[in-house]
Amino acid sequence: MTRTALYPGSFDPITLGHIDVIGRAAGVFDRVVVGVLVNPKKTPLLELNERVTTIREAVDEDLPASAGRIEVASFDGLTVDYAQQIGASFIVRGLRAISDFESEMQMAHTNRKMHPDIDTIFFMTSLEHAYLSSSLVKEIASFGGDVSQMVPSAAARRLRR
Ligand code: PNS
Repeated sequence: MTRTALYPGSFDPITLGHIDVIGRAAGVFDRVVVGVLVNPKKTPLLELNERVTTIREAVDEDLPASAGRIEVASFDGLTVDYAQQIGASFIVRGLRAISDFESEMQMAHTNRKMHPDIDTIFFMTSLEHAYLSSSLVKEIASFGGDVSQMVPSAAARRLRR
């Protein structure tokens, strides 16, 4: 039996914290699908295809041992519907600090209400990445700041461009 997990998110851009969570998930699941949400309510810094390509490059460069079991795709609509579509019984999310917990718990319970067979699994982001967020990275990058310690090299290259 192949255990598939979906790691959904905006990934605008992917950070080292996300890479950390993907690597941890790949240590537990046979197949990890990183699902990039098409969110019509948000104007992203990076286009959808740029985010997908950047994550693919980052996974290949930074997680070479697990890269063959990690897929990157985009989706729209409900996360639980996409999880079902790809045969994932688990949704993966990262927890950085207690401040993430409330909204993540709400999402996990709501997803379970909609789809009781799909469980959410949380991975604690490593402490060195616990302060990272895509929104801060975006802000720093938009003012020309150096984010190379915060994002994988593939994302740093993309942001520079
Ligand atoms: O990276 P983010 O922005 O924290 O990810 C949030 C995401 C994409 C996981 C969440 O917004 C989501 O699942 N959106 C898809 C629509 C959906 O399923 N909404 C109900 C969530 S309970």
